[in-house]
Amino acid sequence: MKKVLALLLIALCGLSLVACGGGEAETDSAAEPKAEALTMATNAEFPPFEYLEGEEIVGADIEIAQAIAEILGRELEITNIDFDAALTGAATGKYDMAVAGITATDERKQNMNFSDDYYTASQAIIVMADSDIKVATDLEGKTISCQEGTTGEQYLLDNEYEIQSFKTGAEAVTALTSGKVDAVVIDNAVAKALSDKQNGATVVLDEALTKEAYAIALQKGDDELTAEINGALSELKASGKLAEIFAKYELPYDDAE
Ligand code: ARG
Repeated sequence: MKKVLALLLIALCGLSLVACGGGEAETDSAAEPKAEALTMATNAEFPPFEYLEGEEIVGADIEIAQAIAEILGRELEITNIDFDAALTGAATGKYDMAVAGITATDERKQNMNFSDDYYTASQAIIVMADSDIKVATDLEGKTISCQEGTTGEQYLLDNEYEIQSFKTGAEAVTALTSGKVDAVVIDNAVAKALSDKQNGATVVLDEALTKEAYAIALQKGDDELTAEINGALSELKASGKLAEIFAKYELPYDDAE
Protein backbone atom coordinates (compact mmCIF):
# COMPACT_ATOMS: atom_id res chain seq x y z
CA MET A 1 0.00 0.00 0.00
CA LYS A 2 2.76 2.40 0.99
CA LYS A 3 4.50 1.65 -2.27
CA VAL A 4 1.40 2.47 -4.26
CA LEU A 5 1.00 5.79 -2.45
CA ALA A 6 4.61 6.67 -3.01
CA LEU A 7 4.27 5.91 -6.71
CA LEU A 8 1.14 7.98 -6.87
CA LEU A 9 2.92 10.88 -5.21
CA ILE A 10 5.78 10.63 -7.65
CA ALA A 11 3.33 10.56 -10.53
CA LEU A 12 1.50 13.60 -9.16
CA CYS A 13 4.74 15.53 -8.71
CA GLY A 14 5.70 14.73 -12.24
CA LEU A 15 2.36 15.97 -13.51
CA SER A 16 2.47 19.20 -11.56
CA LEU A 17 5.99 19.84 -12.79
CA VAL A 18 4.76 19.66 -16.36
CA ALA A 19 1.75 21.80 -15.52
CA CYS A 20 3.74 24.46 -13.71
CA GLY A 21 6.83 24.49 -15.84
CA GLY A 22 6.67 27.81 -17.65
CA GLY A 23 8.58 29.07 -20.62
CA GLU A 24 11.20 26.80 -22.08
CA ALA A 25 9.98 23.58 -20.46
CA GLU A 26 6.67 23.94 -22.21
CA THR A 27 8.14 23.88 -25.68
CA ASP A 28 9.54 20.42 -24.95
CA SER A 29 6.30 19.06 -23.60
CA ALA A 30 3.32 18.00 -25.62
CA ALA A 31 1.44 21.15 -24.55
CA GLU A 32 0.90 23.58 -27.43
CA PRO A 33 3.85 25.91 -27.84
CA LYS A 34 3.22 29.38 -26.54
CA ALA A 35 4.10 31.95 -29.20
CA GLU A 36 5.45 35.28 -28.08
CA ALA A 37 3.06 38.21 -28.06
CA LEU A 38 2.89 40.31 -31.21
CA THR A 39 3.89 43.80 -30.06
CA MET A 40 2.35 46.80 -31.75
CA ALA A 41 2.86 50.53 -31.46
CA THR A 42 0.13 53.00 -32.32
CA ASN A 43 -0.88 56.60 -31.70
CA ALA A 44 -4.47 56.53 -30.49
CA GLU A 45 -5.20 60.08 -31.62
CA PHE A 46 -6.57 59.20 -35.01
CA PRO A 47 -10.28 58.42 -34.99
CA PRO A 48 -11.79 56.22 -36.31
CA PHE A 49 -8.61 54.20 -36.94
CA GLU A 50 -7.30 54.37 -33.37
CA TYR A 51 -8.56 56.40 -30.45
CA LEU A 52 -9.25 56.15 -26.76
CA GLU A 53 -12.61 55.23 -25.36
CA GLY A 54 -11.96 55.89 -21.71
CA GLU A 55 -8.81 53.90 -21.03
CA GLU A 56 -9.37 51.51 -23.88
CA ILE A 57 -7.69 51.81 -27.28
CA VAL A 58 -10.26 51.11 -29.99
CA GLY A 59 -10.74 51.64 -33.72
CA ALA A 60 -10.54 50.00 -37.13
CA ASP A 61 -6.76 49.52 -37.02
CA ILE A 62 -7.01 47.91 -33.60
CA GLU A 63 -9.57 45.39 -34.87
CA ILE A 64 -7.48 44.68 -37.95
CA ALA A 65 -4.38 44.10 -35.79
CA GLN A 66 -6.37 41.85 -33.48
CA ALA A 67 -7.65 39.81 -36.41
CA ILE A 68 -4.09 39.48 -37.75
CA ALA A 69 -2.75 38.38 -34.36
CA GLU A 70 -5.52 35.82 -34.14
CA ILE A 71 -4.59 34.34 -37.52
CA LEU A 72 -0.91 34.24 -36.48
CA GLY A 73 -1.91 32.58 -33.19
CA ARG A 74 -0.31 35.29 -31.09
CA GLU A 75 -1.49 37.60 -28.33
CA LEU A 76 -1.57 41.27 -29.32
CA GLU A 77 0.20 43.75 -27.06
CA ILE A 78 -0.51 47.41 -27.89
CA THR A 79 1.55 50.43 -26.82
CA ASN A 80 0.12 53.92 -27.30
CA ILE A 81 2.80 56.52 -28.08
CA ASP A 82 3.44 59.62 -30.23
CA PHE A 83 3.06 59.01 -33.95
CA ASP A 84 6.72 59.60 -34.83
CA ALA A 85 7.79 57.34 -31.95
CA ALA A 86 5.48 54.59 -33.25
CA LEU A 87 7.12 54.83 -36.67
CA THR A 88 10.65 54.79 -35.24
CA GLY A 89 9.71 52.01 -32.83
CA ALA A 90 8.69 49.77 -35.71
CA ALA A 91 11.68 50.76 -37.85
CA THR A 92 14.15 49.89 -35.09
CA GLY A 93 12.38 46.67 -34.11
CA LYS A 94 11.44 47.90 -30.65
CA TYR A 95 7.92 46.77 -31.59
CA ASP A 96 7.05 44.03 -34.08
CA MET A 97 4.87 46.45 -36.00
CA ALA A 98 3.20 49.84 -36.02
CA VAL A 99 -0.43 50.08 -37.07
CA ALA A 100 -1.52 53.70 -37.10
CA GLY A 101 -3.07 54.71 -40.39
CA ILE A 102 0.49 54.88 -41.66
CA THR A 103 0.98 55.96 -45.24
CA ALA A 104 3.51 53.79 -47.02
CA THR A 105 5.67 56.48 -48.62
CA ASP A 106 8.81 55.88 -50.69
CA GLU A 107 10.80 57.89 -48.18
CA ARG A 108 9.68 55.72 -45.25
CA LYS A 109 10.27 52.58 -47.28
CA GLN A 110 13.98 53.32 -47.15
CA ASN A 111 13.99 52.78 -43.38
CA MET A 112 11.29 50.20 -42.78
CA ASN A 113 9.32 47.35 -44.25
CA PHE A 114 5.69 47.80 -45.17
CA SER A 115 2.94 45.23 -45.50
CA ASP A 116 0.60 45.30 -48.47
CA ASP A 117 -1.76 48.30 -48.51
CA TYR A 118 -5.04 47.89 -46.68
CA TYR A 119 -6.73 51.28 -47.09
CA THR A 120 -6.73 54.23 -49.48
CA ALA A 121 -6.74 57.72 -48.02
CA SER A 122 -5.95 61.33 -48.88
CA GLN A 123 -5.11 64.58 -47.15
CA ALA A 124 -8.13 66.80 -46.56
CA ILE A 125 -8.68 70.39 -45.42
CA ILE A 126 -10.75 71.44 -42.41
CA VAL A 127 -11.80 75.08 -42.16
CA MET A 128 -14.28 77.10 -40.09
CA ALA A 129 -17.78 76.86 -41.55
CA ASP A 130 -17.75 80.59 -42.31
CA SER A 131 -14.23 80.59 -43.77
CA ASP A 132 -13.40 82.26 -47.07
CA ILE A 133 -11.27 79.22 -47.90
CA LYS A 134 -13.44 77.17 -50.26
CA VAL A 135 -10.90 75.32 -52.40
CA ALA A 136 -7.28 74.25 -51.98
CA THR A 137 -5.90 77.21 -53.93
CA ASP A 138 -7.44 79.54 -51.31
CA LEU A 139 -4.83 78.19 -48.83
CA GLU A 140 -2.22 80.43 -50.42
CA GLY A 141 -0.63 82.65 -47.75
CA LYS A 142 -2.63 81.06 -44.91
CA THR A 143 -1.38 79.44 -41.71
CA ILE A 144 -2.22 75.76 -41.48
CA SER A 145 -2.02 73.28 -38.60
CA CYS A 146 -1.30 69.55 -38.82
CA GLN A 147 -0.09 66.56 -36.82
CA GLU A 148 3.66 66.27 -36.32
CA GLY A 149 5.54 63.69 -38.36
CA THR A 150 2.68 62.93 -40.71
CA THR A 151 2.34 62.99 -44.48
CA GLY A 152 0.00 65.96 -44.00
CA GLU A 153 2.85 67.91 -42.43
CA GLN A 154 5.17 66.78 -45.23
CA TYR A 155 2.69 67.98 -47.87
CA LEU A 156 2.50 71.41 -46.25
CA LEU A 157 6.28 71.68 -45.93
CA ASP A 158 6.80 70.59 -49.53
CA ASN A 159 4.39 73.28 -50.66
CA GLU A 160 6.00 75.88 -48.39
CA TYR A 161 2.98 76.79 -46.32
CA GLU A 162 3.33 78.44 -42.96
CA ILE A 163 2.51 75.66 -40.54
CA GLN A 164 1.90 74.87 -36.90
CA SER A 165 2.49 71.22 -35.97
CA PHE A 166 0.88 69.52 -33.00
CA LYS A 167 1.32 66.18 -31.25
CA THR A 168 -2.29 65.30 -32.03
CA GLY A 169 -4.85 66.04 -34.70
CA ALA A 170 -7.30 67.19 -32.02
CA GLU A 171 -4.85 69.92 -30.95
CA ALA A 172 -4.46 70.94 -34.58
CA VAL A 173 -8.25 71.36 -34.75
CA THR A 174 -8.30 73.36 -31.51
CA ALA A 175 -5.76 75.72 -33.09
CA LEU A 176 -8.32 76.25 -35.86
CA THR A 177 -11.39 76.74 -33.67
CA SER A 178 -9.49 79.13 -31.39
CA GLY A 179 -8.48 81.26 -34.38
CA LYS A 180 -4.74 80.55 -34.30
CA VAL A 181 -4.66 79.02 -37.79
CA ASP A 182 -6.83 79.26 -40.90
CA ALA A 183 -7.07 75.57 -41.76
CA VAL A 184 -6.07 72.04 -40.73
CA VAL A 185 -4.62 69.45 -43.10
CA ILE A 186 -5.07 65.86 -41.99
CA ASP A 187 -6.11 62.47 -43.39
CA ASN A 188 -9.64 62.59 -44.88
CA ALA A 189 -11.51 60.14 -42.64
CA VAL A 190 -9.89 61.63 -39.55
CA ALA A 191 -10.71 65.14 -40.75
CA LYS A 192 -14.35 64.11 -40.91
CA ALA A 193 -14.30 62.46 -37.48
CA LEU A 194 -12.59 65.43 -35.82
CA SER A 195 -14.75 68.00 -37.62
CA ASP A 196 -17.95 66.13 -36.70
CA LYS A 197 -17.14 66.82 -33.04
CA GLN A 198 -17.28 70.59 -33.56
CA ASN A 199 -21.08 70.80 -33.83
CA GLY A 200 -21.11 72.46 -37.22
CA ALA A 201 -18.44 75.08 -36.43
CA THR A 202 -16.06 73.47 -38.93
CA VAL A 203 -16.36 71.78 -42.32
CA VAL A 204 -14.18 69.46 -44.40
CA LEU A 205 -13.59 70.71 -47.93
CA ASP A 206 -14.52 68.42 -50.76
CA GLU A 207 -11.03 68.26 -52.22
CA ALA A 208 -8.27 65.67 -51.86
CA LEU A 209 -4.74 67.05 -51.72
CA THR A 210 -2.98 63.68 -52.08
CA LYS A 211 -3.64 60.01 -52.69
CA GLU A 212 -2.10 57.69 -50.09
CA ALA A 213 -2.24 54.06 -49.04
CA TYR A 214 -2.12 52.79 -45.47
CA ALA A 215 0.04 49.82 -44.60
CA ILE A 216 1.55 48.20 -41.53
CA ALA A 217 5.12 49.25 -40.74
CA LEU A 218 7.77 46.75 -39.65
CA GLN A 219 11.50 46.65 -39.08
CA LYS A 220 13.53 46.95 -42.26
CA GLY A 221 14.44 43.43 -43.38
CA ASP A 222 11.88 41.64 -41.21
CA ASP A 223 10.62 39.89 -44.33
CA GLU A 224 9.37 36.82 -42.50
CA LEU A 225 6.86 38.67 -40.34
CA THR A 226 6.00 40.97 -43.24
CA ALA A 227 5.06 37.92 -45.31
CA GLU A 228 3.03 36.42 -42.45
CA ILE A 229 1.14 39.67 -42.03
CA ASN A 230 0.51 39.91 -45.76
CA GLY A 231 -0.88 36.39 -45.66
CA ALA A 232 -3.19 37.33 -42.82
CA LEU A 233 -4.24 40.54 -44.58
CA SER A 234 -5.19 38.73 -47.77
CA GLU A 235 -7.15 36.23 -45.71
CA LEU A 236 -9.04 39.12 -44.09
CA LYS A 237 -9.67 40.69 -47.49
CA ALA A 238 -10.93 37.43 -48.99
CA SER A 239 -13.20 36.58 -46.06
CA GLY A 240 -14.81 40.03 -46.08
CA LYS A 241 -13.65 40.64 -42.50
CA LEU A 242 -11.68 43.74 -43.51
CA ALA A 243 -14.71 45.23 -45.27
CA GLU A 244 -16.79 44.41 -42.20
CA ILE A 245 -14.40 46.27 -39.89
CA PHE A 246 -14.36 49.36 -42.11
CA ALA A 247 -18.16 49.30 -42.36
CA LYS A 248 -18.41 49.20 -38.56
CA TYR A 249 -16.43 52.43 -38.35
CA GLU A 250 -18.31 53.95 -41.31
CA LEU A 251 -15.15 54.08 -43.37
CA PRO A 252 -15.79 54.03 -47.13
CA TYR A 253 -14.05 50.98 -48.53
CA ASP A 254 -13.75 49.55 -51.98
CA ASP A 255 -13.04 45.82 -52.00
CA ALA A 256 -10.85 46.24 -55.06
CA GLU A 257 -8.29 48.18 -52.99
N1 ARG B 1 -1.39 58.83 -42.79
C1 ARG B 1 -0.59 59.82 -42.16
C2 ARG B 1 0.86 59.43 -42.13
O1 ARG B 1 1.20 58.33 -42.35
C3 ARG B 1 -1.05 60.15 -40.75
C4 ARG B 1 -1.06 59.01 -39.80
C5 ARG B 1 -1.26 59.45 -38.36
N2 ARG B 1 -1.65 58.35 -37.55
C6 ARG B 1 -1.89 58.40 -36.24
N3 ARG B 1 -2.29 57.31 -35.64
N4 ARG B 1 -1.79 59.52 -35.60
O2 ARG B 1 1.70 60.22 -41.87
